[in-house]
Amino acid sequence: MRLLVCGGAGFIGSTFVRLRVRQHGDTVTVLDKLTYAGRQENLHDVIDDIRFVHGAIEDPVAVADAVAGCDAIVNFAAETHVDRSISGPEAFIITNMQGTHVLLEAARERGLRYVQVSTDEVYGSIDEGSFTERSPLQPSSPYSATKTGADLLVASYFHTYGLPTVICRGSNNYGPYQYPEKLIPLMILNALAGDPLPVYGDGRNVRNWLFVEDFGAGIGQVLERGAPGEAYNCGGPDECENLTVVTRILELAGADHSLIEFVTDRPGHDRRYSLSSEKLRALGWQPRVHFEEGIERTVRWYRDNAWWWEPIRSGAYREYYERHYGRALKS
Ligand code: NAD
Ligand code: TYD
Repeated sequence: MRLLVCGGAGFIGSTFVRLRVRQHGDTVTVLDKLTYAGRQENLHDVIDDIRFVHGAIEDPVAVADAVAGCDAIVNFAAETHVDRSISGPEAFIITNMQGTHVLLEAARERGLRYVQVSTDEVYGSIDEGSFTERSPLQPSSPYSATKTGADLLVASYFHTYGLPTVICRGSNNYGPYQYPEKLIPLMILNALAGDPLPVYGDGRNVRNWLFVEDFGAGIGQVLERGAPGEAYNCGGPDECENLTVVTRILELAGADHSLIEFVTDRPGHDRRYSLSSEKLRALGWQPRVHFEEGIERTVRWYRDNAWWWEPIRSGAYREYYERHYGRALKS
């Protein structure tokens, strides 16, 4: 296939690009704005095998340039961090909603297949059981609200214009190349550095953890075999409370439990996410990496790849960290 992968320099997008180039022999163009979360380093081992276009999905000129010669668009590009959406929602509205609209128009003009990468957070929080694709959309944060707006716009392009769209909603991802503002990489790097591990609230919020390569494979199935107009959940095999995750990271990093520090809860913090992925399993997908194996691989990767995270931890991230957590990282 000839794919335009938007947001392909981010955490999940770069994993997907690697998978499609190496295992499927696809021809890939990446369009990425290279925000704080997007880095060409994430594509270091495939950069010579793809076409890279530096630009924003909300810019129709950049999109027209990037999409030339492609027969499908897979959109990962987004502002993705819930905490940042609480302190500054505007960039989320521009990228996640306006940007999706520009991509949908580009797909419509050219009759391209369109895959929207979405999240379990569009369903909101669930105390018991699991969300199916028929569950109501009840997002809580500005991040999830803008992802929901995008999903609805995508669905409208199928219903109104007959555009062959599909949506793939993943649960919380973890693995190599994840920017250390998210729970798992943040806690790994703090544990390795001997910095405190800031746990929000009582630490009993539950997330449905999905190893990033499994999400990449799930999106691939949806791209190749998903029915137009449909959405597919892609949930991880394990659910864990945050405290359990953090405790395991401390053990694997060889750090002391006294580093755990309970801090003020996130406003509107969703208690639990859980996805039923039966519909995607029926297409032949299943998650292969359980949490125990995935977290070991992830801690090892961060331990062995300081070249990747040292420039982040010494750059603008320090200011973000100090602003958000009200304290400095060790130098
Ligand atoms: P990320 O923050 O690591 O990467 C986002 C990428 O998008 C970066 O490369 C960034 O430069 C790029 N980008 C941002 N704004 C852009 C714009 N306006 N134009 C072009 N590029 C832009 O995110 P991620 O964790 O890899 O998430 C990728 C997608 O998967 C997102 O759509 C997200 O909502 C979804 N998702 C993430 C998770 C998760 O746990 N991380 C789970 C389910 C779904
Ligand atoms: P996060 O990685 O931000 O993903 P999301 O909010 O999209 O699920 O957070 C995962 C969980 O970890 C969530 O319950 C919030 C919690 N958390 C902390 O306790 N401390 C932190 O410093 C961060 C970033 C998250």
